[in-house]
Amino acid sequence: MSKNRDLRRLNRRDFVRVTTVAAGAVASGSLLSACADDSLLVDPEAGVGDVLAKRRAVTRNPLKIPELMQGTDLTVAPAVVDIGGEEMVEAWAYNGQFPGPTFERRRGESVGVEMVNGLQDETIVHWHGMIVDRENDGHPQDVVESGEHYGYNFVVNQRAALNWYHPHPDMLTGEQVNKGLAGAFIIRDDEEDLLGLPSGKYEVPLIIRDATIRRGRMTYRARKSGFFGKTPLVNGTRNPKLDVDPAVYRFRVLNGANARHFNLSLSNGQNFILIGNDGGLLPMRHDLGQILMSPGERIDILVDFRNLQGTSLMLHDLEDGWDLLEFNVNSESNIDYAFPEITTSTITELSEADVVQTRVFSFDGMSKINGRVYGMERIDEYVPKGQTEKWIFTTGGSAPHPVHVHAAPFKVLSRTGGRGEVFPWETGLKDTVLLEDGETVEVLIRFDEFAGLFLLHCHKLEHEDAGMMMNFEVVDPT
Ligand code: C2O
Ligand code: CU
Ligand code: CU
Repeated sequence: MSKNRDLRRLNRRDFVRVTTVAAGAVASGSLLSACADDSLLVDPEAGVGDVLAKRRAVTRNPLKIPELMQGTDLTVAPAVVDIGGEEMVEAWAYNGQFPGPTFERRRGESVGVEMVNGLQDETIVHWHGMIVDRENDGHPQDVVESGEHYGYNFVVNQRAALNWYHPHPDMLTGEQVNKGLAGAFIIRDDEEDLLGLPSGKYEVPLIIRDATIRRGRMTYRARKSGFFGKTPLVNGTRNPKLDVDPAVYRFRVLNGANARHFNLSLSNGQNFILIGNDGGLLPMRHDLGQILMSPGERIDILVDFRNLQGTSLMLHDLEDGWDLLEFNVNSESNIDYAFPEITTSTITELSEADVVQTRVFSFDGMSKINGRVYGMERIDEYVPKGQTEKWIFTTGGSAPHPVHVHAAPFKVLSRTGGRGEVFPWETGLKDTVLLEDGETVEVLIRFDEFAGLFLLHCHKLEHEDAGMMMNFEVVDPT
């Protein structure tokens, strides 16, 4: 690392700080002026009738389904993408696609990818949720400059799950993800196959995020308090709709937003059947009317459209009153489906009795963990490989902080303060867990696979970029 680049980095962090203050000053004004071009924004004074009329007036675009990854090159570059109804938008894209192409691998298969940086800025790809060695993890130290390449080679050795990939350069992650750089990574295994879950066209990935599109451009502004876009996009589609059979569907949902939460529900009051999360299938199904997702979290849900022939319903976000995705059920006859018994025999339950060491991580303000801003070359914790530990995440304020750990999943033990409970979608294994103000979340974690340098950070990307991130090193026991 050259002195020069260190200086540039320092300046960049300062720059983020300065622009944050400036942006804050005009925030209220810009919120108002942005309303004009947003068809989804509903006047809070309007009556219910007006609201419905406005919703009906929206032209719905067929939901994009990201293509499968082809070949071995993953090129990162500016691209013009169709966000539905031939609305062309300047974005940054992997292989010209927004969202990026979906990777799909069975457990035991390998991944060989050459990332080619066609941006002006440095970048690196991180495989969120994938348990890979340090060279393949996309650490910010490994960024490559414009025009350079980075080769990835790893074997998938973990449970079936929906993971994802996105850039991870120090201080630039928020901008790069926001401008379009993210894609799904689906892992399959024998255990999942046995369940006979809906597949083919009955299994649909949903990458939900927000965006601000101004003058045909994905527009990003770094604010320490987080990027909040004006319009939701699902799989890069504005105002999406999906025509479905009267059947049971499996949706693989990722909150791919920088900062925004989505509190999902169905407009007909029907429950979701939650069967999985970040770490794959859960020990049992949970029937839930609402599921709250913070940035980086995933859920695996079944939705039963049988007996809804000829009707329309909406996937709603209760946080902001957004219509995310309209389902139109055709009037063919029911496609029968037997719900599986879910038993996750391969979840290795960590036990509190085995805890050797406890570490406390306090998420302070909008840029610090344990009082310190991220230092790319500084290692704050050394964690013995194979040792069961209790990590305690707590916050000194300015939450929400969706806390994310690389290189190993964790089991959420408890949440005290704030919401005071562990929710069904936080059972099983997680790699990202939401910390709200006043909350303390205890997790059990053990790094079994790889020694090396890894990251713990807030997945509100503006907090991450401002420095709410920490290096820890997994060390071989001596
Ligand atoms: Cu999804 Cu370290 O990030
Ligand atoms: Cu990650
Ligand atoms: Cu945070």
